[in-house]
Amino acid sequence: MEAMTVAWTVAGVGMALVYWFVWVMGAAEVKGKRAVDLKMGSITNDKVRDKYTQYWSFFRRPKETATTEASAEKVPAFVDTFYNLVTDIYEWGWGQSFHFSPSLPGRSHREATRVHEERVSDLLGAKPGHRLLDVGCGVGGPMRAIAAHSGSHVVGITINEYQVNRARTHNNKAGLDSRCEVVCGNFLSMPFADASFDGAYSIEATCHAPRLQDVYGEIFRVLRPGGLYVSYEWVTTSLYRADNSEHVDAIHGIERGDALPGLRRQDEIASIAKEVGFEVLKELDLALPPALPWWTRLKMGRIAYWRNSLVVRVLTMLRIAPKGVSEVHEMLYETAQHLTRGGETGIFTPMHMVLLSKPAAATDTK
Ligand SMILES: C[S@@+](CC[C@H](N)C(=O)[O-])C[C@H]1O[C@@H](n2cnc3c(N)ncnc32)[C@H](O)[C@@H]1O
Repeated sequence: MEAMTVAWTVAGVGMALVYWFVWVMGAAEVKGKRAVDLKMGSITNDKVRDKYTQYWSFFRRPKETATTEASAEKVPAFVDTFYNLVTDIYEWGWGQSFHFSPSLPGRSHREATRVHEERVSDLLGAKPGHRLLDVGCGVGGPMRAIAAHSGSHVVGITINEYQVNRARTHNNKAGLDSRCEVVCGNFLSMPFADASFDGAYSIEATCHAPRLQDVYGEIFRVLRPGGLYVSYEWVTTSLYRADNSEHVDAIHGIERGDALPGLRRQDEIASIAKEVGFEVLKELDLALPPALPWWTRLKMGRIAYWRNSLVVRVLTMLRIAPKGVSEVHEMLYETAQHLTRGGETGIFTPMHMVLLSKPAAATDTK
């Protein structure tokens, strides 16, 4: 074969491979974000590496971030940075709901996600005419599922402005913007009137609060008396041993790579809820058998992670994606290993469910 023919063949195969990686294999599970459109939230391209380094040095020792008032106060700003860095990567590789769910036999991850969200709606007894609060709403996957399932009106709050814009775009595309609102704000001090919601929920979000009392207290304040609140909490279980270095390594890995100021223990949640005035109606770790593993999604996604990592590197080399994206992607890959270990050993659950009620007689705000 002539040299020219060989060169053209190699170039053609190369182009086809790039196309396959970026557009075909690189497309999100929910085809909303393509690899070529990855942004780092509202961080400009030249600042991505710096922001990532700042984030990493702040969360390097997660437990310490919540121990002094001064560092605890900085947590929401670093959580905001974290979501600037990861939101598009999550959407690209995961979809519009940023949470886990138990696997369901014969059903896709997408369906399992939806069932996990509709369970929240059913626990709340949500119905048309209800005004619900989604605490830490991400880009609104759960909000849209719950609004569609229950017919209620949902207001979401997130600290990250970029997520607000993504959520509004998705709400609009889904034709749900008249029943799904999104507000940018801090759930530790919410811009809502006392007793202004019929129900509230948080899905894998309150774990970002340095003190759970503070966010639970705010939710208690904005709920009407008699209103219900459901939360899926990230916690360590009774199997966790602080003197087992492998356990400590997995939990620190989860905290560092997910912007968490120290995970709480499963047995702390109900007492914190009572401390702020809630009645505890139900408490259950939804990850316990007969539920099927929630972490298989991460395990099965390993090939996808490698593929995506290559896509990200190629896009960074071509200057389509900003420098620093590879580091962020790598961080998420490592965090996925820690989460998997946490799930397999049973020392961690991302779905400790509590159903709480604000007593009908409650008048005070905590
Ligand atoms: C893991 S994501 C879950 C998002 C959503 N619940 C879902 O399941 O798709 C956590 C969310 O909590 C939000 N969050 C964390 N700290 C916050 C704070 N202090 N105020 C408001 N939102 C916060 C993040 O911006 C993000 O949207």
